[in-house]
Amino acid sequence: MDFFDSHAHYNDEKFEKDRDTLIKTIYNDGITKIINAGYSLKSSINAIEIAKNYNFMYATVGISPNDIEDLKKEDLKKVESLAKDKKVVAIGEIGLDYHWNTENKELQKKVFVSQIKIANKLDLPIVIHTREAIYDTLDILKKNACNKKGVFHCCPLNVDLVREGLKLDFYISFAGPITFKNSKNADEIIKRVPLEKMLIETDSPYLSPEPLRGQRNDSRNVKYMAKKIAEIKGIDIEVVARETYYNAQKLFSIK
Ligand code: NI
Repeated sequence: MDFFDSHAHYNDEKFEKDRDTLIKTIYNDGITKIINAGYSLKSSINAIEIAKNYNFMYATVGISPNDIEDLKKEDLKKVESLAKDKKVVAIGEIGLDYHWNTENKELQKKVFVSQIKIANKLDLPIVIHTREAIYDTLDILKKNACNKKGVFHCCPLNVDLVREGLKLDFYISFAGPITFKNSKNADEIIKRVPLEKMLIETDSPYLSPEPLRGQRNDSRNVKYMAKKIAEIKGIDIEVVARETYYNAQKLFSIK
């Protein structure tokens, strides 16, 4: 059984010491495709550099709403030029975050829209980070068509977002929180999302699923997300693994 971890950060310093050994172990454990996600210029460059070492790893480049404090105009140009690398399969993570930052909402929106334009120019999908900003995020997506669509990464477990996101033909990616005991609507949300619009991810090294909360996360744990979805939908984990793998290949144009 093969799994596709559609979102992880092997560019994080928490992997500095054992990155290469760990990534090989992960591959041998059946996680045979991984997207290494950027969130700032530096992490985007690292994401590509690391992905180049493994033929089963790909990268995204983009500037997240939590990394725009000292943003310069040329930084967006740089995102565009990085995105032309063969390893890059999407622009992201990009979006809005009103949990960590409420002072710069207008700038967040501007940077989000600018990067949607880059994605459209280069014919790439987008990877969305949205936190406590659901309605503004949907508003931007409705006003700015994304030609290659995209995915709500670590999708907030909110019925409105999932319903509207699916209407926009976006994918919904589930991470650790669907396994958390205090995630009240996880089951309802999983039931609402058709398997053909679902991706699974770890967001490693963060957000370890139950029963590993608090530990460093890695792509092997994507199996916990598949298991949870299989339980709720009443289907075999093999089906979840296969379908989410196919969906991610389709979205990111990966063979
Ligand atoms: Ni992430």
